[in-house]
Amino acid sequence: MEIKITRTTRPVAKPLAQEEAGTLGFGNYFSDHMFLMDYEEGKGWHNARIEPFHDLAIHPAATALHYGQEIFEGMKAYRGKNDEILFFRPRNNAQRWNDSARRMCMPTMDPDLYCQALNALVDLERDWVPHAPGTSLVLRPAMIATDPYLGVHPSKRYLFFILCSPSGAYFKNGMAPVSIYVEEELIRAAPGGTGFAKCGGNYAGSMLAGERAAEKGYDQVLWLDGKEHKYVEEVGSMNMMFVIDGTIVTAPLDGTILPGVTRDSILTLAKDAGWKTEERKISIDEVYQAAREGRLDEAFGTGTAAVVSPVGRLCYKGEEIVIHNGKIGPKAAYLYDRLLNIQLGNYEDKFGWVTVCK
Ligand code: COI
Repeated sequence: MEIKITRTTRPVAKPLAQEEAGTLGFGNYFSDHMFLMDYEEGKGWHNARIEPFHDLAIHPAATALHYGQEIFEGMKAYRGKNDEILFFRPRNNAQRWNDSARRMCMPTMDPDLYCQALNALVDLERDWVPHAPGTSLVLRPAMIATDPYLGVHPSKRYLFFILCSPSGAYFKNGMAPVSIYVEEELIRAAPGGTGFAKCGGNYAGSMLAGERAAEKGYDQVLWLDGKEHKYVEEVGSMNMMFVIDGTIVTAPLDGTILPGVTRDSILTLAKDAGWKTEERKISIDEVYQAAREGRLDEAFGTGTAAVVSPVGRLCYKGEEIVIHNGKIGPKAAYLYDRLLNIQLGNYEDKFGWVTVCK
């Protein structure tokens, strides 16, 4: 599809001082341009364009604002060797995008078009991809339903847009192990719900538990399954992995957790390292039992934003366990190093995950 490009006449200053000081944070700054494209029933996707970054004007009755018909993706562009700009498994995000869209009664998109849009925007914004170690250009594709009606039904019109945000680590302490509170009462998802879709409502619904966990001094919430409040699901911003007796155990993809691209990559890298992995239901009692018996070697989260994030402390029903002495464990460290250096083009890309922005 042809993409009309309108360049900004007022480029903004890049956050170079923050990049140098390591204070970019996550999603605080935005580049000069954004990608936009419209959809209308009967007409399909049209009017693909890159414009100077601007606020959106939408009808106050737009379906997205009232009924949450909205999805998004989390991706990054990395600065590799020789200043090449690299994407990591973008077609996997395109595929997940379409799965989310179908669940939310929204239009899907040809993965080629999705990747073309990303490439065109990042190509124009390549100077915005930060250089400092641990930084990247966070890409945020999103789609909102724009029909101006208050009836509850799928919109016939949508706006797709992509934002670019030069960012550092998702967690303010970088790779330092995070503390996690296991939520006993509230749930994130239930069988048949929208847990696997990357829709805004999943995140809005998780904020109360996040606030309560923060009040108790924990960084993140670990969700248990919605039916029995027994099995470990995910953290919301990342999938969870436990290393028990040397085996990496993670929740299965059965509809209530986000099918993380990083989750899949880490499982692949772990198998490639000759380690045993299991995708199966794992109860919080099993995690605690393993901890009591000294068999819980490590715990870590995986996600595009979080990369590989070690978990140092876990609290469930008032009982806190400290994992790997509150320090990063060897498997998490190894997997982080492998993944990041494949993403940066430093290690051999034997699974064909990296594509160059052209
Ligand atoms: C990501 O990992 O990129 C995400 O989209 C998670 C997030 C909500 C920050």
